[in-house]
Amino acid sequence: MAVYQATASAPVNIACIKYWGKRDTKLILPTNSSLSVTLDQDHLRSTTTSRADPSFKHDRLWLNGEEEEIKDGGRMATCIAEMKRLRKEEVEDKQPNEPKLSTYPVHIASFNNFPTAAGLASSASGFAALVSSLAQLYQLPVSPSTLSVIARQGSGSACRSLFGGFVAWEQGTKPDGSDSLAVQVAPQSHWPDIHALICVVSDDKKGTSSTSGMQRTVETSPLLQHRIKHVVPQRMVDISKAILDRDFDAFAAITMADSNQFHAVALDTEPPIFYMNDVSRAIIALIVEYNRVSVAKGLGRKAAYTYDAGPNAVIYTKKENVKEIVELIVKYFPQKEGSFKDVFGLFGGADVAKSEG
Ligand code: ADP
Ligand code: DP6
Ligand code: CO
Repeated sequence: MAVYQATASAPVNIACIKYWGKRDTKLILPTNSSLSVTLDQDHLRSTTTSRADPSFKHDRLWLNGEEEEIKDGGRMATCIAEMKRLRKEEVEDKQPNEPKLSTYPVHIASFNNFPTAAGLASSASGFAALVSSLAQLYQLPVSPSTLSVIARQGSGSACRSLFGGFVAWEQGTKPDGSDSLAVQVAPQSHWPDIHALICVVSDDKKGTSSTSGMQRTVETSPLLQHRIKHVVPQRMVDISKAILDRDFDAFAAITMADSNQFHAVALDTEPPIFYMNDVSRAIIALIVEYNRVSVAKGLGRKAAYTYDAGPNAVIYTKKENVKEIVELIVKYFPQKEGSFKDVFGLFGGADVAKSEG
């Protein structure tokens, strides 16, 4: 008997302009546009295997070896249903001899090779890998854009993990979400010099998920309204230009400002949300000082920190500075309880730098 199974991986992306807030929670339409850098799949990735079989009783999912419930009407169920619909419309209706995989239940197993739900965008790589693996299983002749729209309905940030390089998610204005799309601003090859260092401060699961945190922010934060109307639109224009011009100083200034404002908006939520901890703040101080010295020498900023919804730092820098920054971090933050677990060099093929624990 034929076996219908496929495996796909997808990378993490870390936003420079943060998505935080939904105007439609079902379709996952954001209150502002966002922009991210896709990390190198060699280091942080989700790998997902899907199998369709008529003998399966229902759809099931295992995440890192543990079964997770697929809730009716939930995001996982929506993504699977959308992929089955595409299988029917794009393959089975057009080629009646193809097996009717859209009618078979699927079993899905996914692994993240980095901490899950710790503010390192596991939902982004996770849902991108899910739709990619189902697209392969179903042999779908569809573009990354089509998959991105479905991944978005699993986790907003996932729509940016299907293109590589520098990716914008344009918020769109239509109620049906048809113009809320991720687009590549530039491929990685445009600026291969950019590297990301991931500093794992804690691999604990965050106390407030991104989904519930941003919903609370939308409901209670006056600062969010200022951010989405008066700050993000110009930042999207400015950071796109900085990327196209390969202007690291501008890229760094905007990235750090937007991380700061995202965490300010979290603090402006009722009750307040704290994603960063003391180690996160100490890393900010270190990067600020590192840049101050560099700017004083007339060299401009050399590093940019950014934090998602968790305490773990991502530091963007040019390749020539990676070694120096890793040495600085290891010097000031020797790996011990409450400090770093790992420092990885990522993006553009940087060496993986791990300090001794
Ligand atoms: P993160 O900062 O890691 O993105 P979120 O709170 O946004 O954290 O989302 C975490 C949730 O994303 C997990 O609890 C799980 O439901 C989902 N998720 C994470 N990894 C995967 C994966 N590989 N496949 C499917 N879903 C995943
Ligand atoms: C801080 O995409 O995880 O990482 O759409 O509810 O799944 P859901 O949220 P998610 O939020 C990501 C928030 C962020 C910023 C970003 O990635 O743009
Ligand atoms: Co997430």
